[in-house]
Amino acid sequence: MEMAFKPFKRLRRGCMLTNKLKAFSLFPAVFSFVIDNKLRRILENMDRKMIPMGVKPGMKVLEIGCGSGFVTEFLSNAVGDAGFVISIDVQENMIKKAKKKRAHLKNVEFLIQDVSDLNTVKDEAIDLAFCYYSFHEVSDKEKAVSELLRTLKHGGLLSIKEPKLRVKEKYVRSHKEFIAGKGFRFVESIKKCDFLGCYLKFVKD
Ligand SMILES: C[S@@+](CC[C@H](N)C(=O)[O-])C[C@H]1O[C@@H](n2cnc3c(N)ncnc32)[C@H](O)[C@@H]1O
Repeated sequence: MEMAFKPFKRLRRGCMLTNKLKAFSLFPAVFSFVIDNKLRRILENMDRKMIPMGVKPGMKVLEIGCGSGFVTEFLSNAVGDAGFVISIDVQENMIKKAKKKRAHLKNVEFLIQDVSDLNTVKDEAIDLAFCYYSFHEVSDKEKAVSELLRTLKHGGLLSIKEPKLRVKEKYVRSHKEFIAGKGFRFVESIKKCDFLGCYLKFVKD
């Protein structure tokens, strides 16, 4: 009797994992003011997140889903003049806003690009792939993770933060399982969660 139910159990578990990997809808560019304002500056205290999330001076960082560039400013400052940030977003209007608001950032390039097809980025060119409140929105996570594996250097980091209000813990857990199953090694973050979101950090060995 028990044998007969095993395949169903496995199937059900498989479906659950797929469901938990669902792509959330894109955050609309017309509402970018909600995530790019003075209040967020106070609440998020981004400067203090840079070191725990793996950002160091001189690094070449790929920022995935930069929106209008709120986080980009802090990344730019943290990598300094010797570093460089490639900030991509799949929405043309987000990149337009980012270019307008953050034209003063000299060590940043803003590109309209899907992380699932990083055709402008060479193999093993990136020290750190940085996904701030964006990984859950990526529609093709399979291709995205394989592109990140290709473009990261050996020893390079993939650092993710997901927003608590929008992404339940079960989704964060399945992102962790999924990415770890694709060739990245999970490394314990200094903080697992703060009051706004949860962190995941991986290394490409
Ligand atoms: C919630 S916003 C966060 C923006 C920014 N990281 C911040 O914290 O202010 C998520 C962004 O990820 C972008 N995004 C979603 N899927 C993407 C993909 N496949 N490739 C690149 N960007 C993507 C969306 O267009 C959106 O601008």
